[in-house]
Amino acid sequence: MLAVAVLAAGKGTRMKSALPKVLQPLAGATLVERVLASCHRLAPDRQLLVVGHQAERVERTLAGIEGLEFVLQQPQNGTGHAVQQLLGPLEGFEGELLVLNGDVPLLRPETLESLLSTHRTSGAAVTLLTARLADPSGYGRVFADGAGQVSGIVEHRDCNAEQLANTLTNAGIYCFDWARLATVLPSLSSDNDQGELYLTDTVALLRPAMHMEVGDPDEVAGINDRQQLAHCEAVLQDRLRRHWMAEGVSFTDPASCTLSEHTRFGRDVLVEPQCHFRGASSIGEGCRIGPGCLIENSQLAAEVEVIHSVLRDSHVERGCVIGPFAQLRAGAHLAEGCRIGNFVEVKNSQLGEGCKANHLSYLGDADLGAEVNIGAGTVTANFDGVRKHRTVIGGGSKTGANSVLVAPITLGEGVTVGAGSTLTKDVPAGALALGRARQLVKENWTAGPTPRQQQGVAG
Ligand code: UD1
Ligand code: MG
Repeated sequence: MLAVAVLAAGKGTRMKSALPKVLQPLAGATLVERVLASCHRLAPDRQLLVVGHQAERVERTLAGIEGLEFVLQQPQNGTGHAVQQLLGPLEGFEGELLVLNGDVPLLRPETLESLLSTHRTSGAAVTLLTARLADPSGYGRVFADGAGQVSGIVEHRDCNAEQLANTLTNAGIYCFDWARLATVLPSLSSDNDQGELYLTDTVALLRPAMHMEVGDPDEVAGINDRQQLAHCEAVLQDRLRRHWMAEGVSFTDPASCTLSEHTRFGRDVLVEPQCHFRGASSIGEGCRIGPGCLIENSQLAAEVEVIHSVLRDSHVERGCVIGPFAQLRAGAHLAEGCRIGNFVEVKNSQLGEGCKANHLSYLGDADLGAEVNIGAGTVTANFDGVRKHRTVIGGGSKTGANSVLVAPITLGEGVTVGAGSTLTKDVPAGALALGRARQLVKENWTAGPTPRQQQGVAG
């Protein structure tokens, strides 16, 4: 049997944040979600999360994870104290307990698999992950012999000068034989610099204790402050870009782009510099994105082009061309071959195939048939100050420049709206609608003397 426990009760003082540390986001997922995801492949029989600081908030965030048991640690008196809280919930449990610090988010699932199999083969009471770090500051130092047997762990702040020179560090990831750990947990003492109960002290009490060194130190990077958070973000971004390049996506300037874990790309997508993908977006085959785009929770079919634009919660069908400087907001749905040009905003609107809104327009709460041409400066006036109303424009219609369509309003198919019109009433199919002041012309207006000249005032 295998149980996994993630320690997530700490405050994260060094982050200086109102958010509990384990809820800090990294490439679109929280630290603790990443840690939990890294052990999916092990298919544990039990999954426990030790919560304490802002426990309710952490529980609410993770409420959707099936089978996750929350264990409360109150007060938070160190990592050893956190694991002591499992003595009740895991009473009678037989097997291994994998303990993961909730602030070590870059672990690869394969590493955990090999930690578990190393532990099972050696029959050790505990096997912990270690790394040799060029700069080990802040980490616990692991003292081990050449055969991988660990004699103990000393926290950075409790080390003497000689111990500080040891670069073998504790990753905060341990595989314990639960029954043996349970016997030593009650004997931990808080006789250390922080006056806390350290989980690391159990290692000296368990025999044999072994360690497994990881090749890639980034995998075991712990996050205690914002600099470490930024470092891990950079590592993850690099991993994500490499992954998608291997899947057939081109980036002209990879380092300038950021991706979310949940964004998917088809083959032959070209991503130009300064593009950012967030949430669960999908970018279809052969799309060309950028430079300068933000795409969040949006679905783009194949062969879409987007330049210098912001797309959120939108659907874009094949072959649409968007931008530069367009904004698609929640509920925008463009059918095939639409063209959305500069300074055009589309919100909660459906555009039929081949619609064009090329310049300076607002389409909000609108339903457009196919091949509608929206003239420059057309605005759907959708809000009456209290409620939003819809504008319906039939297929093949054309609006002239600076048309204002005051919703609720329906224009039939093939309607033409004269430039500068403000329409407040429905227009039947095939009609021309004009809603503007008739032009007045006074001829020879500038021929005579001006009023000032008539009064004899100079100039
Ligand atoms: C810990 C290890 C250190 C290791 C490092 C790796 C100890 C004593 N030290 O130090 O050897 O090199 O991780 O990153 O374990 N937590 C609780 N309850 C508490 C205190 C902490 O659940 O009372 C949780 C935190 O939320 C965090 C994790 O335990 O997710 C680690 O705590 P943290 O304070 O970050 O320990 P480090 O100082 O990083
Ligand atoms: Mg830490």
